Amino acid sequence: MDRLGDIYPSLKVCTVTSSNSPIAKSLTFAATDAEAIPLHVIESDALDGWLETQPDRTAAWVRAAGFTGALGSTLLVPGADGNIALALAGYGNDEARRRGRFHLAACAGALPQGTYALKGLDPARATEEALGWLLGGYSFDRYASQRPANARLVAPEGVDAARLEIIAAGEALTRDLINTPAGDMGPTDLEAACGALAAEHGAAMEVIRGEALLTQNFPMIHAVGRAAADGPRLIDMTWGDTGPALTLVGKGVCFDTGGLNLKPGASMGLMKKDMGGAATVLGLAHMIMALGLRLRLRVLIPAVENAVSGNAFRPGDILTARNGKTVEINNTDAEGRLVLADALALGAEATPDLMVSMATLTGAARVAVGPDLAPYYADDSALVGALEEAAAQVADPVWRLPFHDPYEVMIEPGIADLDNAPKGGFAGSITAALFLRRFAGDAKYMHFDIYGWNPTAAPARPKGGVGMGARALLEALPRMLAL
Ligand code: BES
Ligand code: MN
Ligand code: ZN
Repeated sequence: MDRLGDIYPSLKVCTVTSSNSPIAKSLTFAATDAEAIPLHVIESDALDGWLETQPDRTAAWVRAAGFTGALGSTLLVPGADGNIALALAGYGNDEARRRGRFHLAACAGALPQGTYALKGLDPARATEEALGWLLGGYSFDRYASQRPANARLVAPEGVDAARLEIIAAGEALTRDLINTPAGDMGPTDLEAACGALAAEHGAAMEVIRGEALLTQNFPMIHAVGRAAADGPRLIDMTWGDTGPALTLVGKGVCFDTGGLNLKPGASMGLMKKDMGGAATVLGLAHMIMALGLRLRLRVLIPAVENAVSGNAFRPGDILTARNGKTVEINNTDAEGRLVLADALALGAEATPDLMVSMATLTGAARVAVGPDLAPYYADDSALVGALEEAAAQVADPVWRLPFHDPYEVMIEPGIADLDNAPKGGFAGSITAALFLRRFAGDAKYMHFDIYGWNPTAAPARPKGGVGMGARALLEALPRMLAL
């Protein structure tokens, strides 16, 4: 069990030894290859100028084919022997590119199998496009026959290829974990995935399971998860022994039925993805550990299934959280903030330099910003600045929502300290974030209310599970923590 890729397809078996590694092998660059087909990236306005530098027959072919450099278009140019001499990828203009990201990943799918070498991009753009190319090679094939292999790319010059491969592997891990249905990704399986990741990187892992959650004071994780056949647990992974302390907390609700406040069928269909926060922090943890960042990392994942049974927690119950605060349960479907609260309280006890939670926490966040943006909360303007700049740099868009203090009153009910589901439903994502902040103690705190799912295929982002905010955070960490 020492390669990330070994987690799949054998997640249930925690003692994988083979080097059969679909993740690590598939999302990589091709070795430098003199025979690689040159792939010229051409903006619409630059086409005429480029054609003037080419032999007449090439220019004639390109014009005859009607290639205009439109974003997403491709053209193969044959040589005299009929083989592919070069390929063109249209790169449109700024205005067209602003409407998306990872544009060349779309071309990668349109080109015939083979090895290509990018020409004509500066290192910053080449970095985004090369990562997109790798991510576009992702497919979830645990239950289906393998897709034909993608066209491959030689790592462009000036690009940190090893870093991009690590980032792609982390993202692939996130996607695999989310895409795996709850029947094969219950709390036990999520724990096994964490164990495999910890083993790969020499991280330590402790898990508190079942009744021990009560004796060790994680009452809300226990209450939410106790009705499930696969019992609740808190996974606590630590890595690194020097540098600032970073604690990542991920919502690991392996399936969210809503509990006794049962979700209607249409709302329950996608709830295998309710461990998307856990999946995203694990992908980020892989990136941090594989890159060897000089920090002390802790990953806390409350892993539960919000199920229905005779022993399920009920509307009206009052739970006492780890930090002593009492919580009136007004909706058992607002379970994520409960399990996260106990995990955050534990994290806060060590006062790390930064604590970040990621969770598919509210439908309100999805309604507010849709599936393309990662909404996040932070009080510290230095953190905000670092994150926003990094997000733009690595094409991982985020959008700040406010920890709006005047709404604190909304999460304060009559007979307990906190209400897990304020009536009226105003500002649902904000009130959930305010709830979590009550458990973060004195740590600097950021929270992401992500969707974790891409509903329509886009370049580099196939339909299905997707990481959000992790790459932006990775890029921002050196500034956030003065690494
Ligand atoms: N996991 C859901 C949130 C969710 C739903 C995220 C759909 C993405 C898509 C969460 O546990 C939940 O059910 N939240 C409720 C809270 C409400 C009952 C206060 C919601 O958002 O409706
Ligand atoms: Mn819920
Ligand atoms: Zn949930």
